[in-house]
Parts: sequence; structure tokens; C-alpha cells
Amino acid sequence: MSVAKKEYKRITVKSLVDMKKHGEKISMLTAYDYSMAKIVDGADVDVILVGDSASNVMAGHETTLPITLDQMIYHASSVIRAINRALVVVDLPFGSYQSDPKEALRSAIRIMKESGAHAVKLEGGKEIKESIKRILNAGIPVMGHLGLTPQSIYKFGTYTVRAKEEEEANKLKEDAQFLEKAGCFAIVLEKIPAKLAEEVAQSVSIPIIGIGAGNGVDGQVLVLHDLLGMTHEFHPRFLRRYMNLYDDMTNAISQYVNDVKSKDFPSDEEQY
Ligand code: KIV
Repeated sequence: MSVAKKEYKRITVKSLVDMKKHGEKISMLTAYDYSMAKIVDGADVDVILVGDSASNVMAGHETTLPITLDQMIYHASSVIRAINRALVVVDLPFGSYQSDPKEALRSAIRIMKESGAHAVKLEGGKEIKESIKRILNAGIPVMGHLGLTPQSIYKFGTYTVRAKEEEEANKLKEDAQFLEKAGCFAIVLEKIPAKLAEEVAQSVSIPIIGIGAGNGVDGQVLVLHDLLGMTHEFHPRFLRRYMNLYDDMTNAISQYVNDVKSKDFPSDEEQY
């Protein structure tokens, strides 16, 4: 299906609000390095998230907790060197903003200054309000993240769907209102019932970007390596795989090994 799209030379936080106003869905994907970010940006993805999922995808940790601020800055600066169009949002990693608002601001400033990113993302609602306000007061755009917030995995205990019960759903709705009022430019809603996500999207004027939150929101985000089928052991219901790169890459690399062993590579044409 072809989609009516306004041409944006460069995506800004204002473009995203504009897209919501005009009913154009927002596309967002993760990237953590120069080569992948160049492809993602070239394919006209609106927002690139340098997610702390780099902790899982790039470093092989079980959770997002171990990744450090320095490591996030390294990933973000590699991504920034690749992009021409996308808005680049960087996760503040676990431990870099929860202890006090001054530290939160210092962390956000380091990301902006040392990587050249355009915005930061923080997990949580009212409980981190002072940190969010301080970062916003410094002129740094903030994206919120509610629902399943992986930095709190040890509090939740599992990665199952959040906010199925009324009490948690009400808190999530209040938090979304709070984040809009505070001045956040968008909110990620992760793994919550589609009906609740749609209700939240209709109740605020800032874009709601979902992952496992249904089709009634203003945009979608996925982890790039999941979409490409590189993380083949991970298959939640919300994930649509567009490729099976794990198998394709394994086959290509096995073929290379065979060609080296059989002396087929390099051929006469592949040498000097
Ligand atoms: O770190 C990440 O990749 C994220 C997305 C799943 C939204 O926060």
C-alpha cells in the first residue's frame, strides 16, 4: 500500500508532532553503529533510537542494566556520523539519571555534547519528574518511555505484557498526561494492551510510538536486529521479521569457509 508522506529534509521533534497532526505514522528503529545507521537513515526511517538494547544486541548481556554512559556515547557518536535525515534519540542508561536530577542533567549533557545526538529517552513517569524537568529546562528534548520499562526488569520479574490491570493502566494514563505537560516531545509505549495504547494516543497531542502496543498509536519502533532476523532466538508476538539474516549470514560465511578450505578463493581474478 502506498502512503501519503510529506517530504521532510531533516526530521526534528517538531516534524514528529506535525506528522501526528496530519495522521502520518512515524517509523522508528534502533541502530548502534555507523554502517547500520547509514542503511537505516538511507531507507528514510524517521527516528533512529540508540537504545540501551545495545546492551543485549551488541554486548550479549541478558538485560539492559550493564551498559554504561560512556558506551552509549560511543554508539551514539558512531550513529550520528552516518545520518543525513533521521532524528537521533539516545537512551539514558540505567544508573545515569535515577539517583538525582543534577546527575540526570549531567548525563544528558554528556550525551548531547559528546555524541551530537538530538534528544534523549528516559524510562518512567512521575517518579522521575525532577530529572525530566531539569533536562528539559536545559533545552534538551526528552522522549518518555512507559509500560514495559526494561531497566526495571528486576522489579517486574518478567517481560510479560504490562498494564493489564486497571490500577496499572490508570497510572500509565496519568504518567502519559504528566510527560506531555512536562514538555516531552513523544512517548514510547512498550508491550501494553492495544486498546489502552490507543486511548493514550488519543488523549495526548504528542506522538505515541508503540512496540507491542498495537496499531492505534502514532508510530512504531522495533529493534533493527529483530526486524532483520539476526536475533533468531527472540520471537515475541509483536515482532514482524522482514528477513532471516541469521540463516543467510551463516550460509554465506559457511560458503566462504568452504571456498578457503577448497582453495577456490581467491581465484586468478581476485589476486594481483
Ligand atoms: O532500547 C531499546 O531498544 C528501546 C526500544 C525497545 C523502544 O528502548
